[in-house]
Amino acid sequence: MDEHQHRAIARWERRWIALSGIMLAVFLGLIAYALIAEGGAIVHGGGRLQPASVTSVPLFASPGARQLSSGDYQVAVLARAFAFEPAVVDLPVGAHARFYLTSQDVLHGFMIEGTSVNIELIPGELAYFDYTFDRPGSFAVVCNEYCGINHENMIGAVRVLPEAEYRQRQAAGTLQGQAAPLTPVASTPPAATGSAGAAPAAAAPAVDGVAVYDAKCAACHQQNGEGHPGAFPPLAGHAPTLYRADRSYPLQVLLYGLQGRIVVDGQSYNNVMPAWSQLSDAELAAVATAMLEAWGNDAALPADYQPYTAADVAAERAQALTPTQVAEVRAKLGLE
Ligand code: CUA
Repeated sequence: MDEHQHRAIARWERRWIALSGIMLAVFLGLIAYALIAEGGAIVHGGGRLQPASVTSVPLFASPGARQLSSGDYQVAVLARAFAFEPAVVDLPVGAHARFYLTSQDVLHGFMIEGTSVNIELIPGELAYFDYTFDRPGSFAVVCNEYCGINHENMIGAVRVLPEAEYRQRQAAGTLQGQAAPLTPVASTPPAATGSAGAAPAAAAPAVDGVAVYDAKCAACHQQNGEGHPGAFPPLAGHAPTLYRADRSYPLQVLLYGLQGRIVVDGQSYNNVMPAWSQLSDAELAAVATAMLEAWGNDAALPADYQPYTAADVAAERAQALTPTQVAEVRAKLGLE
């Protein structure tokens, strides 16, 4: 090889190195763009479930969409060879949905086409993520993990309906993929907010805390408060421990949620308890009181126990904690 050939090779080498550098920059740019434009749907491992008994968890006994409060929906989907249950889920446009998913048998996938949602469903693991459906349309759901002979037929859809159509179908009872209602809240009276003090609280119509619990909390913590090991911590036998640690703490969990690893009865949990600040002061006081007094919990309450009032809840609202800060409060109280 003469001097000229050497130089020619070096020139081409530099060009190839430059080209691969440009490609790398383009790919990184595309990833950054996709994250900014589409938003990342971050999947969380929500704990463990026994695949064989998963349908005994209320959330999966009647999977589907359930409205939690205006705009907030909970969607439970069960995957098994070779179908999703429910296959089609209707939501109104603008719905903030928290999906809870698991597989009953083998590894499946849950990809909502046209969105950033692409989840692996592992038997025995609860996965959850939040997604807001901003535009109407029918979004196909596909299983993208090879799961057996009929894998390619394992499809579903999330139908995001315009508000008017959604209400119409809701009234007509033709919405698809809706979870059976839990015991409905018996006509919740308006919030007993306003000036603190015993007189207005006593005059306000009483809220049935058990009904609020059944409608909002039982899907995860179960109607008998026993929760589900690894996924949703128990309240039966546990709520009084929280009250004894700090009377304000149970209200903080209800108002602001809780995110972080906790241990209850030797079982660890790493899930997100959603914030329920959209409920009224009276509802939160009633539901917190119900949890403390139900399922034999009353026997473990201290002698100076006081049921919560709407004023107690109102006083806690000023703090505006994050779910992670609530976990820090929990740790400071000496709870695991
Ligand atoms: Cu389920 Cu592929």
